[in-house]
This record gives sequence, structure tokens and C-alpha cells, in this order.
Amino acid sequence: MSLHVVEHPLLQDILTRLRDRTTPCDDFRILSHRISLLLVSEATRDIPTVAGTVETPLAVAEANRVAVRVVAVPVLRAGIGMLEAFLDLVPSAHVGYFGLERDETTAVARRYYEKVPKNLGDAVVFLLDPMLATGGSAAMAVDGLQGMGARRVRLVSIVAAPEGVAYLEKAAPDVEVFTAALDRGLDERKYILPGLGDFGDRLYGT
Ligand code: PRP
Ligand code: URA
Repeated sequence: MSLHVVEHPLLQDILTRLRDRTTPCDDFRILSHRISLLLVSEATRDIPTVAGTVETPLAVAEANRVAVRVVAVPVLRAGIGMLEAFLDLVPSAHVGYFGLERDETTAVARRYYEKVPKNLGDAVVFLLDPMLATGGSAAMAVDGLQGMGARRVRLVSIVAAPEGVAYLEKAAPDVEVFTAALDRGLDERKYILPGLGDFGDRLYGT
């Protein structure tokens, strides 16, 4: 598994505001969108393009177009906060949904919903989930996607814990992870420290 910690001053500024406990829900949504734009841009940096031409109003220019099927799969609920940014950058992407919820006491994820496009084998699949904590949710989602035929899976996260990275490395060695921060570790409730709290709750005000 390869881990890419994306470095960009604007990304760091947005992350600081996401971490800030006083950031209200409406700002949190906007910041999630903005940081996702920067992360998705990096996670798609090497997707295949095909060379061709385009006619400008004045001349013919050499041109490149995306030449691979792209599927985005946000993990419910928190991954929804990253989807619009993904579609802003890759409007032709197909979209699947994976519903996972961690048990509040055991922190073990439960799979409760999925609806994913067919023929994942010929696509680059981007799993969108802002928090990689124990890694249980990401591993479950990757396993589900691979079970449906996905061969190329990338996880776009916002904050990752070393425990989650290590777990995913064992469970899904082929996956590439893009994140804005590799934090210190997990607390006794398996929340990321310093992290930014419960992403879904902060995104939706629950
Ligand atoms: C959060 C987060 C991840 C998961 C990460 O979701 O969005 O999916 O926890 O934790 P893990 O790496 O330990 O599995 P949560 O289960 O809280 O659901 P929600 O998005 O509905 O709030
Ligand atoms: N899920 C979250 O939303 N935050 C964490 O810190 C860990 C799991």
C-alpha cells in the first residue's frame, strides 16, 4: 500500500479550520468541500488521458482527455461531504454508495447499505472517507469493492491514524491512500488524536 500525505499550504490552512472545535457546521461543510478539491486533484494526478486535438476559436490545439472510467464511492455518511468536490473535478464519474457505521462501544464497523455501479474491473475506483481511524471501515469497503470486481482502488481521506494505515496495509496492500494528515494515534474510544472529532456529526450537526 502506498501512503501519500498531500502537502500544500492551502490544504494545511483548511485542515486547521476543520480541526477547530469552534468551526460551525455550515463552515465545516464548505471547508470539507475545499480540502476535498485539493486531495482529489492529487489522487487523480496520474489517471490515464488520451491525446487528441480541440478547436479553439482561433486554431487547432493539442489536447488531452481523461481516458479511463472513474467511479467514486463515498462511505456513508461522512464521505458524502467529499463527493461534490470529486464530481466538480471529474464530472463524468459514476457514483456508488457504501453504508458503514462503527459501533459506538466496540468501534467495529457494520455494513448496512451498498449500491455500486457494475463493471468495476475496468474502472479506477476512488473510495471517499474522511477518517481513517482503526482502518476497519476502509478495509471493509475495499474488501466489498474488490469482491465486486474492483482492481484499482484509491482511498481519499482527510485525516489518518498510524493504526489505520498499518491495518489497511495488511488488509489491502494494493490500495493507494491519499490524506491531508497522518495524526498521532487513537484514543481509548478509537477516535483520532488530535483529529477533528466525529466528522459525520460535525458535517451534519448530529
Ligand atoms: C466514521 C468515518 C469512517 C469511520 C472510520 O464513520 O467516516 O467511516 O468512522 O473509523 P474506522 O477507521 O475506525 O473504521 P462512522 O462509522 O462514525 O459513521 P458516520 O459517517 O455515519 O458518522
Ligand atoms: N470517525 C470519526 O468521525 N472521527 C474519528 O476520529 C474516528 C472515526
